[in-house]
Amino acid sequence: MQPSKQTSLERVSLRLAHPGDAPLLKRWRSEPSVRRYQPLGPVSVSQLSAELASQRLADLYRGRGEKFQWIIRCLEQPVGWLTLVVTNWDHGLAETGYALSSAHQRRGLMPQALDILLADLFTNTGLERIEARCAVDNIASQKVLTKVGFHREGRLRGYFVLSGRRVDNYLYAILREDFFSG
Ligand SMILES: CC(C)(COP(=O)(O)OP(=O)(O)OC[C@H]1O[C@@H](n2cnc3c(N)ncnc32)[C@H](O)[C@@H]1OP(=O)(O)O)[C@@H](O)C(=O)NCCC(=O)NCCS
Repeated sequence: MQPSKQTSLERVSLRLAHPGDAPLLKRWRSEPSVRRYQPLGPVSVSQLSAELASQRLADLYRGRGEKFQWIIRCLEQPVGWLTLVVTNWDHGLAETGYALSSAHQRRGLMPQALDILLADLFTNTGLERIEARCAVDNIASQKVLTKVGFHREGRLRGYFVLSGRRVDNYLYAILREDFFSG
């Protein structure tokens, strides 16, 4: 993983999530602000823990594995998480998801966390294209994606159900060349 970035305001770093993080992830997933724009299905601490126990960071660098999760830290405190789902290793495709717990939103932390992740992925893995999707009403998420160099590529109509209503999403993506030329 790339070294942490020091900004004028906060120090952000990432570490791979481990089974002991499951209760924290479960708690964060239940926060209303975290669920506001994304449907997070019910998942138990033991399911989360089993999922985290099966991930190996070495797999990511060898071009294997499907799902990886990191804890975002600010000044060494856990503040949120990042997920990466590799959809196709042959073509270098993956999708990212992310959230900060309520107390840590609006502090400019997520652009830093995504930047650290993307630098590591594009430098050290065979991934070439990272996608992200977000609800069309999630303006903060769209601003974050634009800041780190994602391009909005289209609108996915009725993409998921949120509070009983089908919601359109925007599809964003960043290519290796976008990241290094940005
Ligand atoms: C969306 C989220 C990832 C943004 O990360 P963040 O670190 O809080 O974002 P920033 O502090 O860098 O803010 C980015 C921009 O969005 C704005 N913003 C942040 N939260 C906002 C809110 N709740 N409403 C409106 N604007 C908001 C900021 O003012 C900033 O605008 P600027 O670039 O014009 O200054 C974070 O708020 C979050 O985790 N939300 C809950 C989970 C979620 O929605 N995940 C994404 C699913 S696609």
